[in-house]
Amino acid sequence: MFGKRQSNNAALSAPEPAKVESPKPVEVAQPAPQASTSAASTSSDRSEEYYETKATIFNALFETIDVSALAGMQPDRARQEIRVIVDEIIAIRNVRLSVAEQNQLISEICDDILGYGPLEPLLARDDIADIMVNGAKHVFIEANGKMQKTNIRFRDNQQLMNICQRIVSQVGRRVDEASPICDARLLDGSRVNVIAPPLSIDGPALTIRKFKKDKLKLEDLVNFKSISPAGAKVLQIIGACQCNIVISGGTGSGKTTLLNCLTGFIHPDERIITCEDAAELQLQQPHVVRLETRPPNLEGKGKVSMADLVKNCLRMRPERIIVGEVRGPEAFDLLQAMNTGHDGSMGTLHANSPREALSRLESMITMGGFSLPAKTIREMIVGSVDVIVQAARLRDGSRRITKVTEVIGMEGDVIVTQDLIVYEMDGEDAQGNIIGEHKSTGIARPAFWDRARYFNLEKELAEALDAAGG
Ligand SMILES: Nc1ncnc2c1ncn2[C@@H]1O[C@H](COP(=O)(O)OP(=O)(O)OP(=O)(O)O)[C@@H](O)[C@H]1O
Ligand SMILES: [Mg+2]
Repeated sequence: MFGKRQSNNAALSAPEPAKVESPKPVEVAQPAPQASTSAASTSSDRSEEYYETKATIFNALFETIDVSALAGMQPDRARQEIRVIVDEIIAIRNVRLSVAEQNQLISEICDDILGYGPLEPLLARDDIADIMVNGAKHVFIEANGKMQKTNIRFRDNQQLMNICQRIVSQVGRRVDEASPICDARLLDGSRVNVIAPPLSIDGPALTIRKFKKDKLKLEDLVNFKSISPAGAKVLQIIGACQCNIVISGGTGSGKTTLLNCLTGFIHPDERIITCEDAAELQLQQPHVVRLETRPPNLEGKGKVSMADLVKNCLRMRPERIIVGEVRGPEAFDLLQAMNTGHDGSMGTLHANSPREALSRLESMITMGGFSLPAKTIREMIVGSVDVIVQAARLRDGSRRITKVTEVIGMEGDVIVTQDLIVYEMDGEDAQGNIIGEHKSTGIARPAFWDRARYFNLEKELAEALDAAGG
C-alpha cells in the first residue's frame, strides 16, 4: 500500500499505544478540501477519552505509515489511504467506537495530516467572521457579532504550530522563533496573522478573518439595520458623485465591508486602483488594478510598503485610488492624491469618531516624518477629505454606521465638520439588543451639494435627506 512503512508492523499489534515523539509536520502541496465530514461536530462535546483515543490512534498511524509519502498524493486518495489504515488500527486494537465516532475520528485525523486540522470545521462554516486561537486549548470564534468559545482543541502547541507553518508556507513565508510574526492568507483569501512564542507566551496565537465569498451589499446593511434606507441612499450618492471618503471605525467594525459597498457605486468607466495589505476588496467594475503590499523576505529585504504603492498609483493614471487601510505615512500620499484630481478616492482607518479620524490622519502624517506645520496639515486634510463615514460594533454585537460627517472647512486652527446623519441609541430590548434610529441632522444642503448637482443627483440627494427625517 502506498505510504505504508515496509518494515514496522509492531505499532499495529502493540498492546499499548506506541510512544512517538511529536510527529513531524508534513509538507503538503494542497490542503485538503475545506468541507469535511467533521463540520457538523463543531459544537459537540468531546470527552477527554475521545482525545486520548485519537492521540493513541494518531501515534500508531505515524508509526505505521510514512506520512510524508502522502504529500504528493491527491487529497482524496490520501484520505482513502489513511481511512484504510486507521480502520485497521481500530480493529486490531479493539478500540470501541460507534460507526459515527469512527468516521468522525478518521475525518479529523485526515484534517490534521492533510489540511488545517481542528480548524477545518470552522473554516467550512460560512457564518463565522473571525477565528481566534490562543494556544492549543483555547479557540474562539466570532459569529453573528458575538464572541464565543468553542470546544475545538489542538493536540498540543506543536500541532498548532505545524498548522500555522503549513498556512504561512503557502504564501512562501516562515514562522518560527527567529521570525515569530507573520501575515499570510489562506487559499480562499482569508486573512491570517500568526504570532508565535516566545512573543506570544502561552503558545502560538493565530487569528483568521474569514473571507466572505458573498460580500455584504448596501441592501444587506439596510436589512441588518446598520443604516436606514434613506441613509443608504445618501451613501450611494456620496459614492457616485466622487466625494473623497474616509471610513473610520474600530477593529472588525465593518470598515472594509462598507468600503466594498461604496465602491459598488463607482461608474464602470472609471479606472480604479486598489492598494491593500491583503486583498479583501471585491470590486465589480471592469477597469480595476489591484495592488498588494509585500512584507520583507527572510533577509529583511524586498519590502513594498503601502506608501510605495500609493505613490506608484499616481503614475498609473488612476481616476480613483482605494486604500484598504491607511495606517502610516501613506496618509500623506493618499491625501495628496485626493486633492490633486483623483476625486472619489477612499480609504479606511482605525478611529472611534470622525473627529478622532481627523487627528489620526494628522498624526500619521506627522509621524511619517513630514515636518509641516499643524495648520498646513489640517488645511491639506480639509482640502482632501469630503466625507467621513463612522462604523462601529455595538455592545450587542451589531454593526452600525453611527455617523456620516462632512469636513467643511477651517475656523482658525480647527477643522470644522458637520454631521449629516447620526445613529441615536434609544435603549435596549429584553434580549439586550440595542434599539436606535438613524436620523438626519436636518442639513438640507450638504457641502457636496454642488458636486451632486454636477452629477445630476441633487434631486435624489434632497429626497434622501428629506426621507432621513430629523
Ligand atoms: N453591517 C454589518 N452587519 C453584520 N456583519 C457585518 C457588517 N459589516 C461587516 N460585517 C461582518 O463583520 C466582519 C468584519 O467586517 P470587516 O472586515 O468589514 O471589518 P473591518 O472593520 O474592516 O475589520 P479590520 O479592522 O479587522 O480590518 C466580516 O465578517 C463582515 O462580513
Ligand atoms: Mg478591514
